[in-house]
Amino acid sequence: MNNRFLQACRREPVDATPIWFMRQAGRYMADYRALRQRYTLLEICANPELAVAVTLQPVEVIEVDAAILFSDLLVPFTPMGLDFDFVKGEGPSVEHPIRTPEAVEKLRRFEPREALGHVLETIRILRRELDGRVPLIGFGGAPFTMASYAIEGCPSTTYARTKAFMYAQPEAWHRLCSRFADMMADYLTAQIEAGAQALQIFDSWAGALSQADYREFALPHTSRIFSALKAKGVPLIHFGVGTAAILGDIVDNGADVIGVDWRQPIDEAWQVIGPNRAIQGNLDPARLLGPMDRVFSATDDILRRVGGRPGHIFNLGHGVLPSTPLESVQALARHVHEVTRTGPS
Ligand code: CP3
Repeated sequence: MNNRFLQACRREPVDATPIWFMRQAGRYMADYRALRQRYTLLEICANPELAVAVTLQPVEVIEVDAAILFSDLLVPFTPMGLDFDFVKGEGPSVEHPIRTPEAVEKLRRFEPREALGHVLETIRILRRELDGRVPLIGFGGAPFTMASYAIEGCPSTTYARTKAFMYAQPEAWHRLCSRFADMMADYLTAQIEAGAQALQIFDSWAGALSQADYREFALPHTSRIFSALKAKGVPLIHFGVGTAAILGDIVDNGADVIGVDWRQPIDEAWQVIGPNRAIQGNLDPARLLGPMDRVFSATDDILRRVGGRPGHIFNLGHGVLPSTPLESVQALARHVHEVTRTGPS
């Protein structure tokens, strides 16, 4: 039984630093690309057998210490009445984005145990198939990141429509984010019931907000999700990109583990989040596109800054890029285990 990921989440000592990757199943893997020739992303997410197979692909060939459920952040949009699809080369596209307060009121409430039963079934099968080899991470989105897709309707670099809505319609904004928070707390509770052993809340785009705006428009809703899940006994991870300026505020969400990107040295980030939290990160995913000596030197620098303190989970600062060589990901995982191993293997 490999428990080092869960031990590190709880800041307990480990036999070697645990490592997993965001987007560890995906286009950089030939097996994934082969499956995508036959099925769309949403078809894979909707079919437990396929989603299980994709989740397990990296577990079989990379020394990862955790599996992450294969699904997508936006899967709950459909039962809320927000139809969307993935457009090749562009990302998600929402058919009728939210642009008015009335549209917020029209969002549907749903029972995740029914409407998203296929995701929960995927989790149940995964727990059986993994059989204790590595723990299973479930996930969901934080309200700001979910709302940004609901309002923009597509990926954005400025979040102009999202922020315009937030400033001009603050009451409707807070109602929208409350809806997302309630839905997510319920959906993530159902993931725990189905067998998820840790949860990661993706607030990927929260770094787009100023500190004052983060505290006013995002934090109250994200922290409601964490409060609802706190007593359920599984470690909770918060993840965001470009969050250096709001890291101290993110701590107030109540996560056990805080994910940080590569823009800030990991020891400085840990200083800000304090000794009572575990940390996850923070290698630049683009490092893996270059030669391995540079990957290893940057990795060793992260490990030196962490200095063996309990509570470090090695990860990239964001997801594996599609053009990454699989061999580089495999070599990185092996390297992290080799150089941090403390006992007999
Ligand atoms: O990390 C994992 O391996 C678990 C699976 C997972 C996916 N998406 C599968 C996926 C997770 C955790 C997500 C989260 C997600 N989805 C986020 C937050 C994470 C982040 O990036 O910070 C967001 C914003 C989304 C919405 C989404 N899904 C976008 C914007 C895109 C297109 C961008 C891209 O990379 O092409 C997706 C597509 C998507 N979701 C892929 C995968 C593996 C691409 C694969 C494909 O097209 O086959």
